[in-house]
Amino acid sequence: MRIIVCKGKRAQGEAAAALFAAQILRKADCVLGLATGSTPLETYAALTAMYERGALDFGAVRSFNLDEYVGMKPDQEQSYFRFMYENLFSKVNIPQGNYFLPDGAAADVDAECARYEAAIEAAGGIDLQFLGLGHDGHIGFNEPADHFPLATHCVDLAEQTIEANKRFFASAEDVPRRALTMGIGTIMKARGIVLVVNGADKADITAKVLKGPVVPQVPASILQFHPNVTVILDEAAASKL
Ligand code: F6R
Repeated sequence: MRIIVCKGKRAQGEAAAALFAAQILRKADCVLGLATGSTPLETYAALTAMYERGALDFGAVRSFNLDEYVGMKPDQEQSYFRFMYENLFSKVNIPQGNYFLPDGAAADVDAECARYEAAIEAAGGIDLQFLGLGHDGHIGFNEPADHFPLATHCVDLAEQTIEANKRFFASAEDVPRRALTMGIGTIMKARGIVLVVNGADKADITAKVLKGPVVPQVPASILQFHPNVTVILDEAAASKL
Protein backbone atom coordinates (compact mmCIF):
# COMPACT_ATOMS: atom_id res chain seq x y z
CA MET A 1 0.00 0.00 0.00
CA ARG A 2 1.44 3.36 -1.04
CA ILE A 3 0.29 6.38 0.97
CA ILE A 4 0.60 9.88 -0.49
CA VAL A 5 -0.23 12.96 1.59
CA CYS A 6 -1.14 16.00 -0.50
CA LYS A 7 -1.61 19.66 0.32
CA GLY A 8 -5.32 20.05 -0.34
CA LYS A 9 -8.08 18.53 -2.43
CA ARG A 10 -6.90 19.97 -5.74
CA ALA A 11 -3.50 18.29 -5.37
CA GLN A 12 -5.23 15.04 -4.43
CA GLY A 13 -7.31 15.26 -7.58
CA GLU A 14 -4.22 15.87 -9.67
CA ALA A 15 -2.42 12.88 -8.12
CA ALA A 16 -5.38 10.55 -8.63
CA ALA A 17 -5.92 11.86 -12.18
CA ALA A 18 -2.24 11.18 -12.95
CA LEU A 19 -2.75 7.50 -12.02
CA PHE A 20 -5.90 7.23 -14.13
CA ALA A 21 -4.23 9.05 -17.00
CA ALA A 22 -1.25 6.67 -16.85
CA GLN A 23 -3.69 3.75 -16.94
CA ILE A 24 -5.45 5.13 -20.03
CA LEU A 25 -2.14 5.94 -21.76
CA ARG A 26 -0.82 2.43 -21.08
CA LYS A 27 -4.00 0.68 -22.20
CA ALA A 28 -6.39 2.75 -24.32
CA ASP A 29 -9.26 0.27 -23.90
CA CYS A 30 -8.83 -0.11 -20.15
CA VAL A 31 -11.73 -0.71 -17.78
CA LEU A 32 -12.08 1.92 -15.06
CA GLY A 33 -14.06 1.59 -11.84
CA LEU A 34 -15.59 4.95 -10.92
CA ALA A 35 -17.24 6.56 -7.91
CA THR A 36 -19.62 9.42 -7.18
CA GLY A 37 -19.84 11.78 -4.19
CA SER A 38 -17.68 14.80 -3.36
CA THR A 39 -14.33 13.01 -3.32
CA PRO A 40 -13.83 12.34 -7.06
CA LEU A 41 -14.83 15.83 -8.25
CA GLU A 42 -11.28 17.23 -8.40
CA THR A 43 -10.06 14.05 -10.11
CA TYR A 44 -12.76 14.26 -12.78
CA ALA A 45 -11.99 17.97 -13.27
CA ALA A 46 -8.28 17.19 -13.72
CA LEU A 47 -9.02 14.37 -16.17
CA THR A 48 -11.35 16.66 -18.11
CA ALA A 49 -8.63 19.32 -18.31
CA MET A 50 -6.16 16.75 -19.63
CA TYR A 51 -8.69 15.63 -22.24
CA GLU A 52 -9.32 19.23 -23.31
CA ARG A 53 -5.58 19.78 -23.76
CA GLY A 54 -5.36 16.69 -25.96
CA ALA A 55 -3.31 14.70 -23.44
CA LEU A 56 -5.94 11.98 -22.96
CA ASP A 57 -8.26 10.06 -25.25
CA PHE A 58 -11.28 8.32 -23.68
CA GLY A 59 -12.43 6.94 -27.06
CA ALA A 60 -11.84 3.29 -26.14
CA VAL A 61 -12.18 3.53 -22.34
CA ARG A 62 -14.91 1.53 -20.63
CA SER A 63 -16.14 2.18 -17.10
CA PHE A 64 -18.26 0.64 -14.39
CA ASN A 65 -19.49 2.67 -11.43
CA LEU A 66 -19.56 1.33 -7.91
CA ASP A 67 -23.19 1.91 -7.11
CA GLU A 68 -26.63 3.40 -7.70
CA TYR A 69 -29.65 4.06 -5.49
CA VAL A 70 -32.52 1.58 -5.72
CA GLY A 71 -35.54 3.08 -7.49
CA MET A 72 -33.48 5.81 -9.17
CA LYS A 73 -33.95 6.28 -12.92
CA PRO A 74 -30.87 7.48 -14.84
CA ASP A 75 -32.44 10.84 -15.74
CA GLN A 76 -33.45 11.70 -12.15
CA GLU A 77 -31.56 14.64 -10.66
CA GLN A 78 -29.95 12.73 -7.78
CA SER A 79 -29.12 9.59 -9.73
CA TYR A 80 -25.50 8.57 -9.81
CA PHE A 81 -25.88 8.17 -13.57
CA ARG A 82 -26.72 11.88 -13.84
CA PHE A 83 -23.83 12.77 -11.51
CA MET A 84 -21.40 10.87 -13.71
CA TYR A 85 -22.82 12.32 -16.90
CA GLU A 86 -22.56 15.89 -15.62
CA ASN A 87 -19.13 15.57 -14.01
CA LEU A 88 -17.28 13.34 -16.47
CA PHE A 89 -19.04 11.48 -19.26
CA SER A 90 -20.44 14.58 -21.00
CA LYS A 91 -17.07 16.34 -20.74
CA VAL A 92 -14.77 13.77 -22.32
CA ASN A 93 -15.05 11.59 -25.44
CA ILE A 94 -16.01 8.33 -23.73
CA PRO A 95 -18.58 6.83 -26.12
CA GLN A 96 -22.15 6.39 -24.94
CA GLY A 97 -22.47 2.64 -24.48
CA ASN A 98 -19.01 2.36 -22.90
CA TYR A 99 -20.03 3.49 -19.41
CA PHE A 100 -22.16 1.48 -17.06
CA LEU A 101 -23.87 1.83 -13.68
CA PRO A 102 -26.10 -0.68 -11.94
CA ASP A 103 -29.72 -0.07 -12.99
CA GLY A 104 -31.35 1.14 -9.77
CA ALA A 105 -34.77 1.12 -11.44
CA ALA A 106 -34.59 -2.57 -12.42
CA ALA A 107 -37.73 -4.51 -11.51
CA ASP A 108 -35.68 -7.46 -10.24
CA VAL A 109 -32.76 -6.02 -8.26
CA ASP A 110 -31.14 -9.40 -7.57
CA ALA A 111 -31.13 -10.26 -11.30
CA GLU A 112 -29.69 -6.80 -12.02
CA CYS A 113 -26.88 -7.37 -9.50
CA ALA A 114 -25.99 -10.70 -11.12
CA ARG A 115 -26.11 -9.12 -14.59
CA TYR A 116 -23.85 -6.25 -13.51
CA GLU A 117 -21.29 -8.54 -11.90
CA ALA A 118 -21.24 -10.69 -15.07
CA ALA A 119 -20.84 -7.59 -17.26
CA ILE A 120 -17.72 -6.56 -15.31
CA GLU A 121 -16.31 -10.07 -15.73
CA ALA A 122 -17.14 -10.09 -19.44
CA ALA A 123 -15.29 -6.79 -19.88
CA GLY A 124 -12.19 -8.49 -18.48
CA GLY A 125 -12.42 -7.08 -14.95
CA ILE A 126 -11.49 -3.64 -13.67
CA ASP A 127 -7.99 -2.30 -14.34
CA LEU A 128 -8.13 0.67 -11.96
CA GLN A 129 -10.80 1.40 -9.37
CA PHE A 130 -11.43 4.81 -7.77
CA LEU A 131 -12.72 4.69 -4.18
CA GLY A 132 -13.89 7.33 -1.72
CA LEU A 133 -14.38 6.44 1.94
CA GLY A 134 -17.55 6.69 4.03
CA HIS A 135 -17.42 7.96 7.63
CA ASP A 136 -18.31 4.44 8.80
CA GLY A 137 -15.56 2.87 6.67
CA HIS A 138 -17.75 1.91 3.73
CA ILE A 139 -16.43 1.57 0.19
CA GLY A 140 -19.00 1.50 -2.56
CA PHE A 141 -22.04 1.05 -0.35
CA ASN A 142 -20.57 -1.90 1.55
CA GLU A 143 -21.61 -0.85 5.04
CA PRO A 144 -20.11 -2.27 8.26
CA ALA A 145 -21.29 -5.87 8.60
CA ASP A 146 -20.29 -9.21 10.06
CA HIS A 147 -18.90 -10.45 6.73
CA PHE A 148 -17.37 -9.05 3.53
CA PRO A 149 -19.97 -9.26 0.72
CA LEU A 150 -18.44 -10.86 -2.35
CA ALA A 151 -20.40 -9.71 -5.38
CA THR A 152 -22.68 -6.88 -6.52
CA HIS A 153 -25.70 -6.85 -4.23
CA CYS A 154 -28.53 -4.78 -2.77
CA VAL A 155 -27.88 -3.09 0.59
CA ASP A 156 -29.77 -1.16 3.23
CA LEU A 157 -27.92 2.10 3.75
CA ALA A 158 -26.68 2.91 7.26
CA GLU A 159 -28.24 5.91 9.05
CA GLN A 160 -24.82 7.63 9.01
CA THR A 161 -24.64 7.25 5.22
CA ILE A 162 -28.17 8.60 4.75
CA GLU A 163 -27.22 11.53 6.99
CA ALA A 164 -24.01 12.18 4.99
CA ASN A 165 -25.79 11.99 1.63
CA LYS A 166 -28.83 14.11 2.50
CA ARG A 167 -26.94 17.18 1.26
CA PHE A 168 -27.79 16.07 -2.28
CA PHE A 169 -31.53 15.82 -1.47
CA ALA A 170 -34.26 18.14 -0.16
CA SER A 171 -34.24 16.28 3.19
CA ALA A 172 -32.96 13.08 4.83
CA GLU A 173 -36.40 11.51 4.21
CA ASP A 174 -35.83 11.83 0.47
CA VAL A 175 -32.60 9.80 0.49
CA PRO A 176 -33.31 6.29 -0.87
CA ARG A 177 -32.89 3.63 1.83
CA ARG A 178 -31.37 1.00 -0.45
CA ALA A 179 -28.67 0.87 -3.09
CA LEU A 180 -27.06 -1.57 -5.50
CA THR A 181 -23.33 -1.79 -4.98
CA MET A 182 -20.32 -3.73 -6.19
CA GLY A 183 -19.31 -6.15 -3.45
CA ILE A 184 -16.05 -6.11 -1.52
CA GLY A 185 -15.05 -9.10 -3.67
CA THR A 186 -15.79 -7.16 -6.87
CA ILE A 187 -13.64 -4.27 -5.63
CA MET A 188 -10.80 -6.52 -4.45
CA LYS A 189 -10.62 -8.16 -7.90
CA ALA A 190 -9.66 -4.80 -9.48
CA ARG A 191 -6.02 -4.95 -10.60
CA GLY A 192 -5.32 -1.53 -9.10
CA ILE A 193 -7.13 0.67 -6.58
CA VAL A 194 -6.89 4.39 -5.82
CA LEU A 195 -8.44 5.39 -2.47
CA VAL A 196 -8.87 9.14 -1.98
CA VAL A 197 -9.85 10.57 1.42
CA ASN A 198 -9.96 14.16 2.62
CA GLY A 199 -11.07 16.17 5.62
CA ALA A 200 -10.54 16.09 9.39
CA ASP A 201 -13.94 14.41 9.82
CA LYS A 202 -12.45 11.29 8.15
CA ALA A 203 -9.15 11.25 10.11
CA ASP A 204 -10.34 8.67 12.69
CA ILE A 205 -11.80 6.26 10.15
CA THR A 206 -8.76 6.67 7.88
CA ALA A 207 -6.47 5.57 10.74
CA LYS A 208 -8.71 2.56 11.44
CA VAL A 209 -8.84 1.58 7.77
CA LEU A 210 -5.10 1.83 7.16
CA LYS A 211 -3.63 0.80 10.53
CA GLY A 212 -6.36 -1.10 12.39
CA PRO A 213 -7.33 -4.77 12.21
CA VAL A 214 -8.88 -6.05 8.98
CA VAL A 215 -12.51 -6.62 9.99
CA PRO A 216 -15.85 -6.42 8.12
CA GLN A 217 -17.04 -3.87 10.69
CA VAL A 218 -14.54 -1.54 8.95
CA PRO A 219 -15.15 -2.63 5.34
CA ALA A 220 -12.31 -0.60 3.75
CA SER A 221 -9.75 -2.24 6.06
CA ILE A 222 -9.73 -5.18 3.59
CA LEU A 223 -7.71 -2.93 1.26
CA GLN A 224 -4.67 -3.70 3.46
CA PHE A 225 -4.69 -7.12 1.74
CA HIS A 226 -4.80 -5.77 -1.83
CA PRO A 227 -1.43 -5.90 -3.62
CA ASN A 228 -1.79 -2.65 -5.58
CA VAL A 229 -3.46 0.19 -3.65
CA THR A 230 -2.49 3.85 -3.72
CA VAL A 231 -4.01 5.92 -0.90
CA ILE A 232 -4.16 9.66 -1.55
CA LEU A 233 -4.87 11.69 1.60
CA ASP A 234 -4.91 15.35 2.42
CA GLU A 235 -3.11 16.49 5.56
CA ALA A 236 -6.32 16.60 7.61
CA ALA A 237 -7.34 13.02 6.77
CA ALA A 238 -3.78 11.84 7.49
CA SER A 239 -3.57 13.62 10.85
CA LYS A 240 -4.32 10.54 13.01
CA LEU A 241 -2.04 8.06 11.24
C1 F6R B 1 -19.82 6.68 -4.14
C2 F6R B 1 -19.50 5.67 -3.14
C3 F6R B 1 -19.26 6.01 -1.71
C4 F6R B 1 -18.51 7.32 -1.50
C5 F6R B 1 -18.36 7.61 0.00
C6 F6R B 1 -17.69 8.95 0.24
O1 F6R B 1 -20.01 6.10 -5.41
O2 F6R B 1 -19.47 4.52 -3.47
O3 F6R B 1 -18.57 4.96 -1.09
O4 F6R B 1 -17.25 7.24 -2.11
O5 F6R B 1 -19.61 7.62 0.60
O6 F6R B 1 -18.53 9.97 -0.19
P1 F6R B 1 -18.01 11.47 -0.37
O7 F6R B 1 -16.97 11.44 -1.43
O8 F6R B 1 -19.22 12.26 -0.83
O9 F6R B 1 -17.48 11.91 0.95
